[in-house]
This record gives sequence, structure tokens and C-alpha cells, in this order.
Amino acid sequence: MIETQAISKTFHDPKRGEIHAVRPVSIDIGQGEIFGLLGPNGAGKTTLLRMLATVLTPTSGSATINGFNLLGDPEAIKKSIGFLSGNTRLYNRLTPREILSYFGALHEMPPDQIRTRSDGIFQMLEMTEFADRRIEKLSTGQTQKTSIARTILHDPPVYILDEPTLGLDILTSRTIIRFIRESAQSGKTILFSTHYMEEAEMLCDRIGLLHEGQILDADTIENLRLKKNRTHLADVFMAYIEEAA
Ligand SMILES: Nc1ncnc2c1ncn2[C@@H]1O[C@H](COP(=O)(O)OP(=O)(O)O)[C@@H](O)[C@H]1O
Ligand SMILES: [Mg+2]
Repeated sequence: MIETQAISKTFHDPKRGEIHAVRPVSIDIGQGEIFGLLGPNGAGKTTLLRMLATVLTPTSGSATINGFNLLGDPEAIKKSIGFLSGNTRLYNRLTPREILSYFGALHEMPPDQIRTRSDGIFQMLEMTEFADRRIEKLSTGQTQKTSIARTILHDPPVYILDEPTLGLDILTSRTIIRFIRESAQSGKTILFSTHYMEEAEMLCDRIGLLHEGQILDADTIENLRLKKNRTHLADVFMAYIEEAA
């Protein structure tokens, strides 16, 4: 469902010089799979996801999502994915329901379809209680749920979520984790990034360990543990980093 072909990104920074944010990455993610990109700050998670979401142009390589080529058919890619980024902005004066109506119209969804889909999302994300309250009155967690709702409103087959639980309380994180799991069970393909080890452990079918722009390995948690003969994912990650150094 998502296949990257040696996709890479180099930034040219006036002060820092060349930054290899993402070195050639080739991964293959199947339909219904939850793939977690695990890596510390600066590893290249956001850059990789932004390229797949057509926000950034790769320096080299490409990708195929839902059968469409990233470079050849960016419009089809945009329709195929829901992309949650750290700087998804919402309108403070609107309510979650109004925001979904607005974006639904942008996606050219008929009003009754927007309503049905919104209600379904509000239930899944436990938003019903505040669906008609203005964004300016919502908590961080409630706002993040609204951003996720907005991202997936058009019912795309692929969800790309950049650190969806960053900075959230446990209850909100749990709801989002359950939502991701249920979405995968209903056939969605999910690529998300996190730097929380436990979250990756709890949720992912496979984990890609990202370090300094490089995928050190991508496999199931059991296999990663077996390969490095360690129990804790943090120790496994360290073993990979030491080996790469
Ligand atoms: N627009 C940019 N210009 C220059 N450097 C960038 C830009 N975006 C990201 N970087 C650099 O690329 C590297 C990877 O960043 P990022 O993809 O944001 O990592 P992560 O999301 O894993 O924290 C970092 O060194 C970051 O400073
Ligand atoms: Mg990031």
C-alpha cells in the first residue's frame, strides 16, 4: 500500500551546510498494517512523512501509495492519504463539527455524508461531548483529536500521522491508540511516527528504527528483540545504534 523506493532528502542550510535528513529509505507497508517510525528528535521522521504527503519534494528516489506514484500523481496521493502534521492549524472560533463541515465541503463531500462520517469519527475518538464547543475552549488533547478528525474526514485508505500523541495525557493517548488499532482492523493502512517506545511496542505490526536519517531495521518487535537478544525496545534500539556507529 505504501512503498518507498530509496527516497531521500538533503537540506542545504546556510549555517549547518548539507543536512542528510533522510538517507535513501526503502520500505514496504501492506494494507491494514500499522507501521511505526520510531526515532529520537532529529532522526528524520517528519521529513520522511512530509515527502510521502507530497508537502516536500524528495532529493532522490520516489514512492508509491495506493497504486499512485508520488512524483507522477500527487493529486491522487493527496486523495489517498490523511496527513496529520505537527502544524495542522484549526480555526479557534469554530467548533469541531463546523470544522469538519468546512473541510468536508473542500473535499466536495455531500452534507449528509459529512454528517454521517463526522458522527462516526466523534464516536471513535470520543469527541461527542465537545463536538459543538469552540476550539478556543478545548484542551490540548481535545484539539488534537479534532485535528485527527479533520485529517481523516474524507475516509482515505492511508493514514500518515506524525507523532499523533506528542505531549498528550495518558487518557487521550489511549483513545488515539485505540482509534489507530480499530482503523487498521477496518482495513486502513497506518504509517505513524513516535519517539515513545512503549507506544510503538503496544501498537505496531512492524517498527522502522530511524536514526540520523537511516532505517537501521524494519521488522516486528519480536524479530527485532530476537535479532539483538534484548527484551526492552530501548535496549534493542541502542544495540542497533552501536552497531551502526
Ligand atoms: N526545512 C529544513 N531546513 C533545514 N534543515 C531541516 C529542515 N527540516 C528539517 N531539517 C533537519 O533535518 C533533520 C531531521 O529533522 P526532522 O525530519 O524534523 O526529524 P524528526 O521529525 O525525527 O524530529 C534535523 O537535523 C532537522 O534540523
Ligand atoms: Mg518531527
